[in-house]
Amino acid sequence: MKIDYRETTNDLLKRIDIHSQYGAKNIDSWMLDIIQLQKGMNILDVGCGAGKQCFSYHQQLNGAATITGGDVNEELLGQAKKENEKRSTGMKFIDLDFNKTFPLESDQYDFESCCFAIYYAEDIPFTIQEMHRVLKPGGRLFSSGPMPTNKQLFYDIIREATGKTIPPMPGSSRYSTHILDAMKATFSKVDVHIFENPLIFPEVEPFIAYTRASLAEDRKLWSSFFQTKDDFEKIMTAITTVAEKRLESDGQLVMTKVVGGFIATK
Ligand SMILES: C[S@@+](CC[C@H](N)C(=O)[O-])C[C@H]1O[C@@H](n2cnc3c(N)ncnc32)[C@H](O)[C@@H]1O
Repeated sequence: MKIDYRETTNDLLKRIDIHSQYGAKNIDSWMLDIIQLQKGMNILDVGCGAGKQCFSYHQQLNGAATITGGDVNEELLGQAKKENEKRSTGMKFIDLDFNKTFPLESDQYDFESCCFAIYYAEDIPFTIQEMHRVLKPGGRLFSSGPMPTNKQLFYDIIREATGKTIPPMPGSSRYSTHILDAMKATFSKVDVHIFENPLIFPEVEPFIAYTRASLAEDRKLWSSFFQTKDDFEKIMTAITTVAEKRLESDGQLVMTKVVGGFIATK
């Protein structure tokens, strides 16, 4: 699957902010509970973006771990490095592309994570093989991503507003199938955990901000819906009308994130 994708800093940070403001549950606590990090671990986070998980691990372990974050996006890596300097954590942030051999030695990490990112890899078995290669024997990989029922309201509203079929998303269309199967084929054991987090919007504005950030960031995936800025604005107007109607009838908009956390052991 050829994926023409670049996350922009603003779109990613906007969505992270909306999750933390309107989500009833905290995905970071859920993740930290199930991954059970230990002090002294050598940890790698791939597709680290602006370093959200790296900073969370550092805080959880009071700095008693070696932590490396890798990503292909220079702008996001720059943000991570800047924050890292501010906090003086000593973590490392490196260039790493899912579609190339990782610039890392084999068998060196106790724990590796890839949060909301693996589905941007072009050749999933290749990338999973690279993730497996760099782990120590017995080391674990945690991956998170959207399950097929993720964000139902978001897709329902877009479908109603446009009358069009939603294009297959690289995440939810294959995370629980192709990606999970590739992990099972590569690792000795894979455990599946599910996290459900209703985002409750008492007004339309944050839902629209979320929708804008999602559609704008993934605009290549939505090319059958809009090409120009004008088309985009027209679609956003139609989406706003449908969202307002739903809010009026239901009193709130509830968009539930349904996330799979796969823990694979080498
Ligand atoms: C939704 S963001 C998640 C970032 C971070 N893990 C978080 O949860 O905040 C997806 C990340 O995947 C990264 N990504 C996309 N394609 C990639 C590739 N080919 N190699 C490495 N990272 C990639 C993006 O740059 C982005 O940082």
